[in-house]
Amino acid sequence: MKAILVEEKTQQLFIGETDMPHMGKSDLLIKVRATALNRADLLQKRGLYPPPQGASTILGLEMSGVVEEVGENVSGWKKGDRVCALLPGGGYAEYVVIPAEMAIRIPQNLSFEEAAAIPEVFLTAFLNMFWLGKLKKEETILIHAGASGVGTAAIQLAREIGANIIVTAGTEEKRSLCLSLGAAEAIDYKEGPFHEKVMDATFGKGVNLIFDFIGAPYWEQNIDSLATDGKLILIGTMGGAKLNDVNLGKLLFKRLQIIGTALRSQSIKNKIALTKDFTDFALSKFENGRLKPIIDSIWEWEKVNETHSHMEQNKNSGKVILQIP
Ligand SMILES: NC(=O)c1ccc[n+]([C@@H]2O[C@H](COP(=O)([O-])OP(=O)(O)OC[C@H]3O[C@@H](n4cnc5c(N)ncnc54)[C@H](OP(=O)(O)O)[C@@H]3O)[C@@H](O)[C@H]2O)c1
Repeated sequence: MKAILVEEKTQQLFIGETDMPHMGKSDLLIKVRATALNRADLLQKRGLYPPPQGASTILGLEMSGVVEEVGENVSGWKKGDRVCALLPGGGYAEYVVIPAEMAIRIPQNLSFEEAAAIPEVFLTAFLNMFWLGKLKKEETILIHAGASGVGTAAIQLAREIGANIIVTAGTEEKRSLCLSLGAAEAIDYKEGPFHEKVMDATFGKGVNLIFDFIGAPYWEQNIDSLATDGKLILIGTMGGAKLNDVNLGKLLFKRLQIIGTALRSQSIKNKIALTKDFTDFALSKFENGRLKPIIDSIWEWEKVNETHSHMEQNKNSGKVILQIP
């Protein structure tokens, strides 16, 4: 089959030939129609984020497509069904194999491109908001990088349960998108510290939950922005990972919880349970239009190097999609 491969020396991507994935009795073979970019892909191609043991070494953490073959122990799926799924790798290819229990049926109103924009960011947001963050109605969440793929999914999920949403984002256009999705407050983090604006917006109380993708440069302001018993979930470290001069006393004083999280390395059992919980919550909401995959742009897979550069320059709002012919 054809797949997008990495030229090791130059880290350029190219379409080449590789082996078909091996199919087990409980699996589905999928003809991929679309995949989506993730920051992990940018790191993996530079050798900075190796795939988990046993996973495909091809880039791509999600896909949408059509069932081509059904494993002999699988029931409930047939050739021709439209599915999307989270992957541990391998999405930048013509075919993938997934455990049947990981498959999400694509709602009729969504295209393959829209469906490919769902798994990674919505499952990440769902895991961290509900399983780990336990966010409740009327609580307040601060979502950094609000217009990112994960951010735009998180805003919609928080809105659906009636939480108050504050975001940070780097451009006027991105902040408008966040407000249109349900954020009550969108802070320009480039204009100055966000902490004071968060405290103003919460009448001095602070927020119950923070989704942080930035890391070290935001640590101090994040801790100061949390309410008593608040939780900081560290989802990424795009701004840096090393801290100096940490005052641990603030954690005790405010009874804070700091949670590190990673979706890709979760056990397959957890991923199946998460997929089921998420689809129970979300699938009908995608069908009736309450939830929407937020797409920045759709590209032919020949343009994959341009798409990576687009994301590297922080130009995207929402998901960048690759069509697989
Ligand atoms: N732990 C997990 O399980 C997991 C799963 C999925 C994703 N992630 C991580 O979550 C993060 C977001 O992923 P994504 O795919 O949603 O990203 P994305 O759509 O590419 O958006 C990232 C945005 O973050 C902002 N940003 C980048 N560097 C920044 C910096 N140094 N300071 C402040 N803002 C910065 C930029 O927006 P502005 O223009 O607003 O600055 C950028 O467009 C990444 O770090 C990714 O690795 C983690």
